[in-house]
Amino acid sequence: MDISTKPNPKLAIIEDDEDIQELICAFFRQKNFQVFPYGDARVLLRDVERQEAHFDAIITDLMLPNLSGIELTKKLRSIGNDTPIILITAHKSSERAIEAIEAGAYDFVVKPIHFPQLQVSVERALHFKRIRTENEALKTAVAIKDGAGVDGIIGRSPGLLKAIDLAKRVSDSAANVFITGETGSGKEVIARAIHYFGSRAKHPFIAINCSAIPENLLESELFGHAKGSFTGASDKKIGLFEEAGDGTLFLDEIGDLSLPLQAKLLRTLQERRIKRIGENQFRAVNARIISATHRDLRLAVREKQFREDLFFRLNVIPIHLPPLRQRREDILPLAEFFLKKFCAINGKKIDGFQKNALEYLLKNQWLGNVRELENAIERAVVLCENTLLDANDLVLDDFSQEISEAVPAEGLAIPESNHAREPAPFFGLVDSESAPLLTLEELTNRYLTYALERNGGAKDKTARDLGIDRKTLYRRLQEMNAKRPPADPIDDLGAHSHAGFTQ
Ligand SMILES: Nc1ncnc2c1ncn2[C@@H]1O[C@H](COP(=O)(O)OP(=O)(O)OP(=O)(O)O)[C@@H](O)[C@H]1O
Ligand SMILES: [Mg+2]
Repeated sequence: MDISTKPNPKLAIIEDDEDIQELICAFFRQKNFQVFPYGDARVLLRDVERQEAHFDAIITDLMLPNLSGIELTKKLRSIGNDTPIILITAHKSSERAIEAIEAGAYDFVVKPIHFPQLQVSVERALHFKRIRTENEALKTAVAIKDGAGVDGIIGRSPGLLKAIDLAKRVSDSAANVFITGETGSGKEVIARAIHYFGSRAKHPFIAINCSAIPENLLESELFGHAKGSFTGASDKKIGLFEEAGDGTLFLDEIGDLSLPLQAKLLRTLQERRIKRIGENQFRAVNARIISATHRDLRLAVREKQFREDLFFRLNVIPIHLPPLRQRREDILPLAEFFLKKFCAINGKKIDGFQKNALEYLLKNQWLGNVRELENAIERAVVLCENTLLDANDLVLDDFSQEISEAVPAEGLAIPESNHAREPAPFFGLVDSESAPLLTLEELTNRYLTYALERNGGAKDKTARDLGIDRKTLYRRLQEMNAKRPPADPIDDLGAHSHAGFTQ
């Protein structure tokens, strides 16, 4: 999450002496706080009770004419509001300040105000609040895990349930599992499930992304090396095959493994043993191998980029995760799960989704799958100022209205023919030398699809990367959409409604 989208902390300042109030406000404004001055604690209490105001911290004078700092603290606590409160007190009344702490205030500062000290107190209060909400977020996440989905995997579509069922059934075997699915569809979630469902759960789960590490480093990561076996190997290193022990080694993006490493991996799987680089001693491999890719490995095999013998050895038990747009029953449970999670993390209270947001969630194509949905909800929670999430919070630009009006049921779709079963990376103009040439329109469409997928479906960024404005991108997608074969029917919104959603 981009920190810059987080608003500055909101600070309420209650002080009946206008001069002092102005001094405190000016100080915190200069420190980039959003400052909300009050002369009367009753007014703040009313705003909070009506949910018209929400603060990250409150500074209040102890002695106030209508409602004292202590009374305010007690009242806020009694209505379940736990915003940290810092009291400012005259020296003589510090005993009362201690009483206030007992009533639930966070800290107190004695007059005359020493501003740096007050600032430290506020910063500490904010830190405390953050930790507390993170703690609550964790508890909520655990509660959600216990209560919904299968062991933390959210969703109820037949495609996902089939993958979970298979994951359970194979969890105790040692057979290699091969997980396919578009980027962000939950391949790692399923890999972890296989590990934790079975008897290996008490052993390590080690994941490595084969595309993220340069080839020479990847080899020593996987197999380990002896001290001094190559320049830079100043110490011996245990490889991940060894580290995984009797647990699971998850080889993510296996399709990006170089041909020499493919040969070495094949040998390892055949012999179930490895040698660290620079050593002669063999060591047994007991770890269960799960691999995954978003690429079409059969195509890579046909094009001689991936060894067929290795492919068959890895692909003993294939598990496929359909893209989110083909399991729309999962969208709303996932959205609800992410809403709760990010509300807890951000200390927000958002009860559900507006009808237009539900429509958007169900219509959008989610080319970046669950990850894109998760990111969209996180961003929307941070930006949302109301008790229900609106479509505009999700779309993040003024085209949302235009889109939902202009585009019928399928939303902004990429023609199905263009994202194929496994989205092919855009490596060149044609797939092979003998393939017929593409029309310019087809070429543009493919490139657009590729760019969108690479950006996890983020349309703003894609438009920027391609040097076109968002309107042009949207128009282009609509044109592609119009030529697309009919999409999966979207169920009635009603069929998806369940607790947590307000329509
Ligand atoms: N069914 C699910 N329930 C809850 N969270 C999910 C589910 N599926 C995916 N996620 C979440 O979505 C994000 C992406 O999932 P994951 O990393 O497993 O995808 P992936 O297919 O491995 O992606 P990539 O191809 O980019 O490696 C993660 O934050 C994950 O926790
Ligand atoms: Mg992954």
